[in-house]
Amino acid sequence: MALEGHKKIETNATLLLTLSFLVVTIGGIVEIAPLFYLENTIEDVDGMRPYSPLELAGREIYIREGCYVCHSQMIRPMRDEVERYGHYSLAAESQYDHPFQWGSKRTGPDLARVGGRYSDEWHVDHLMNPQSVVPESVMPSYAFLADNVLRPTYIADLMSTHRLVGVPYTDEMIAEAQVDFIQQATDFGDPGVVERYPGAQQRDFDGNPEVTEMDALIAYMQMLGTLVDFSTFSEGEAVASR
Ligand code: HEC
Repeated sequence: MALEGHKKIETNATLLLTLSFLVVTIGGIVEIAPLFYLENTIEDVDGMRPYSPLELAGREIYIREGCYVCHSQMIRPMRDEVERYGHYSLAAESQYDHPFQWGSKRTGPDLARVGGRYSDEWHVDHLMNPQSVVPESVMPSYAFLADNVLRPTYIADLMSTHRLVGVPYTDEMIAEAQVDFIQQATDFGDPGVVERYPGAQQRDFDGNPEVTEMDALIAYMQMLGTLVDFSTFSEGEAVASR
């Protein structure tokens, strides 16, 4: 009997199409509708904070230079990726990224956790001439970044723009943006920047006392993936606190 009914559906194209459409619609609604009622689809994770002014400026250079054309920042939860790059990326780790840097185009390695993997000197050498440290590299040279002095003229405006799209920069962070920018790239700097941006690394990144685009880009590279402490992170807790 049931087979008879099925035969009717299979031999009548209009009926088959109408019923398929119904099934897909119901399935779609069941999947999509709950998302409208969730306040937040990103679970909060300890340690995440907005980018410091210098890191944000470095991120702008990363985007301007098209580093994302060859590098992704998204470690997928697959064994080979986790073994190579570290804990898979959490949604919260890109929550302040505008635009995000996910992707699967990897001419070079994923950079989501490159922070702390190499010394600042390695990054300088690598950006000046990638083949000097990795002879078979196809990455182009970015030596000019070391000659471009970077001034924080517009950094507060950039942070205000990010605030507009939901990044929780405070009035104080925006007011202190120019000072924090310079201080983070200075060895003997004022610690205010570390208070405002916990975990911010403060030093002269490129070995040149002037703040250059190289400083900003390396400051950004060195913090990638370092904010969440995965030795204390537990999957269950994050799910429970949702
Ligand atoms: C044409 C593609 C290409 C572009 C564009 C590119 N890279 Fe690379 N990158 C590579 C390749 C290939 C490697 C691996 C070999 C090496 O280390 O040089 C690499 C390696 C790296 C590494 C070392 C990663 C690791 O885990 O060993 C860093 C850091 C890096 N790139 C940063 C950058 C930055 C920053 C930019 C933009 C200023 C950039 N790359 C632009 C291809 C590229």
